[in-house]
Amino acid sequence: MRVPFIAGNWKMFKTQAEAAAFAEEFKTLYKGTDVQTAVCAPFTDLKLLVDAFRGTGIMVGAQNVHFAENGAYTGEISVSMLEEIGVDFCIVGHSERRQYFGETDETVNLKLKKLFEGSIRPILCVGESLEERDAGQASAIVSRQLASGLDGIGADDIRRLVIAYEPVWAIGTGRTATPEQAEEMCAFIRNTLIEMYDEDTADEVIIQYGGSVKPANATEIMNMDEIDGALVGGASLKAADFMEIIDF
Ligand code: 13P
Repeated sequence: MRVPFIAGNWKMFKTQAEAAAFAEEFKTLYKGTDVQTAVCAPFTDLKLLVDAFRGTGIMVGAQNVHFAENGAYTGEISVSMLEEIGVDFCIVGHSERRQYFGETDETVNLKLKKLFEGSIRPILCVGESLEERDAGQASAIVSRQLASGLDGIGADDIRRLVIAYEPVWAIGTGRTATPEQAEEMCAFIRNTLIEMYDEDTADEVIIQYGGSVKPANATEIMNMDEIDGALVGGASLKAADFMEIIDF
């Protein structure tokens, strides 16, 4: 059975001093739960967080990675650099990276393949924009993101994948998808995985919802059958709020 998995995505927030303060406070609140927990932080905070959370069960994720082993790619970070720090997860294909930094289904695919060579588990973000939803294209867009993003990746790797369904219109807007809308798309994602792979493989993939998740709506979202977890932006920046979500 899938263990619920709730991850914070700090985006470009928190200096090392702020990350250290969060870790101190969060460790006092976190009693260990049945929910897998991770914080996906800026690169500069990762080592500090891995050290601070050692032995607590709280895991650490990056928000991006390059697909090459190494090379002349100014400003980029490789998978082995993240592995050396002890990072557990890496977000791939977040809509903000697709929108502002030229991330495409093709680069997403290369990044996933590179991550699957090693130990870091990818959190693949998919989701449609408001125009796409209004045009009735939500499932077509997500289906394309999955088909291209997962192209050539075998079932053994897919079992280690986490997928975050994040409708772009619900990110940072305060406008959450209804639990039914989120449930419908997460079910669609699992059915797509059944078609692409098989039922056993699809059954093991953790599917999160992301987009304005907060303490007030975490319970109804997490109680949906097809939703295994959440990728939390703004509400993961405050230790007490993030803990309330994990304790949904
Ligand atoms: P918010 O929770 O701030 O809407 O962000 C969601 C998100 O993008 C998580 O990756």
